[in-house]
Amino acid sequence: MLQSFQPVLERIAEEMAGLAVRGRPADYIPALASADPRRFGMAVAELDGTVYGVGDWQHPFSTQSVTKVFTLALSLAREGDALWEHVGREPSGNPFNSLVQLEYENGIPRNPFINAGALVVTDRLHRLTGDASGCLLDFLRAESGNQDLGFDRDVAASETERGDRNAALGHFMASYGNIVNPVPTLLREYFRQCSIAASCADLALATGFLARHGIRADGSRLLTRSQAKQVNAVMLTCGTYDAAGDFAYRVGLPGKSGVGGGIIAVVPGRCTLCVWSPGLDERGNSVAGVAALDRFTTITGLSVF
Ligand code: DON
Repeated sequence: MLQSFQPVLERIAEEMAGLAVRGRPADYIPALASADPRRFGMAVAELDGTVYGVGDWQHPFSTQSVTKVFTLALSLAREGDALWEHVGREPSGNPFNSLVQLEYENGIPRNPFINAGALVVTDRLHRLTGDASGCLLDFLRAESGNQDLGFDRDVAASETERGDRNAALGHFMASYGNIVNPVPTLLREYFRQCSIAASCADLALATGFLARHGIRADGSRLLTRSQAKQVNAVMLTCGTYDAAGDFAYRVGLPGKSGVGGGIIAVVPGRCTLCVWSPGLDERGNSVAGVAALDRFTTITGLSVF
């Protein structure tokens, strides 16, 4: 029988409680600015849906860019390789909200996890489904088994109010013909997507299909084995932006962060993780979150390397 992850999680939570430097919550989205950086939760989900957790692992937080993994998977499942004509899969080496490469590269964003790339993916999903954010929410509810998951209207409104940069990205890409929906419609969908509140337990479970090589919680297939490998690979190389090299070095797993302080990670064939702590480093990744994942792979030896 495989060993329970519970003692490892408890050891990590104890270590994280003593962490002196915890970073600062994102304040460019006012609704996220008041989060307490001392909060910490972590969950591990096995392939069969067994979940272990510690600290605030059942507390809902703002998922933000973590959702970019799920919209990528949902788009890839529907559109297949044609998606890659609209978004690349190379690390950008730039901040998540950067505009600089877009003009040199004719409105094709470097990867699906920077904001520009996520806008393209949501645009494609909305074109195909007519309801990108609803489709994402349905998926997260089904995979987590939590029907209470929903949009946080205050967070979505707060982002809309401060949405100039994402609006600039959307309009700029539209000028190259790489956005098909009206930009205001796309922004509404994207901000709803980012506003979804979910816990570490919910997100660890929802990420399970990436550890099960494309198979959903109900046994049906979302992605081919090859597509699941591709999403994991893009998470490893691009999921933490201009810190992806350091994340791979420290954690050694495909991972995706959000400015709400959440990070999901995948041990293919074994388990999925989600950690949450709202204090961020200057690149937008949770300080305690990265440290906790670093400790998890170091203690357990579970990494892709
Ligand atoms: O569009 C934004 O800026 C946010 N809704 C999401 C950014 C984010 O989470 C980046 N992650 N580290």
